[in-house]
Amino acid sequence: MVGAVARHEYTVIGPKVSLVARMITAYPGLVSCDEVTYLRSMLPTYNFKKLPGKMMKNISNPGKMYEFLGHRRCVMFGKRHLAREKNVNHLLLDREKELEAFRMAQQGCLHQKKGQAVLYEGGRGYGKSQLLAEINFLGQKEGHRVLPLTLKEADSKQYFYAIQTLMAIFFEIDSCPACYRQEYLHKQLHGMVEEPLHCLFNDLFFVKVMKAVAF
Ligand SMILES: Nc1ncnc2c1ncn2[C@@H]1O[C@H](COP(=O)(O)OP(=O)(O)O)[C@@H](O)[C@H]1O
Ligand SMILES: [Mg+2]
Repeated sequence: MVGAVARHEYTVIGPKVSLVARMITAYPGLVSCDEVTYLRSMLPTYNFKKLPGKMMKNISNPGKMYEFLGHRRCVMFGKRHLAREKNVNHLLLDREKELEAFRMAQQGCLHQKKGQAVLYEGGRGYGKSQLLAEINFLGQKEGHRVLPLTLKEADSKQYFYAIQTLMAIFFEIDSCPACYRQEYLHKQLHGMVEEPLHCLFNDLFFVKVMKAVAF
């Protein structure tokens, strides 16, 4: 800190400042950051692009450098995760009416083969997650396959996000590497959908079509 009492000036000094000065010169016009910043930012990797290494004066090893691309959203289906598992020591109180609505829908679906949806609405702490954990438990107990999915408000901005994610979980292509997605999809659709029509599902599941390698 230098200067008179009435006027203070603050100067940041140190190796990071020198590095930043070199980065600005090496990557003009870009918002660049070093690897520590990249890793500690807690932002998704698709918000960044790796930059080519550059010689920097007086800095022997600047490490990996990244360009910050801004807060982009990657259009993709979601991950499977159930927020909560049923806790057997925790009784579910006063939810008969809500569970009955689920049972009715389940009956309609299983016996009348009609698609059903039950919507539970309530503010924070109302007991939604607890109820869903119970429904998940009941469904599995009866031998049904349950596809749990948590939606965030931001997901509403992507058209068909929920149905795409549910179908991706159903076909188990959400958990497989992108390069195997096409193969998985073929296997799952086999016998259900004619093979020439399989490609119609590529867009829905963000299938990256493998390029043929020439030898
Ligand atoms: N029917 C219930 N019986 C007993 N405890 C409940 C019930 N519903 C919710 N709780 C408890 O209340 C708290 C908040 O419920 P939670 O399901 O997390 O709410 P939400 O998901 O709607 O925000 C949790 O600790 C949960 O265990
Ligand atoms: Mg909740």
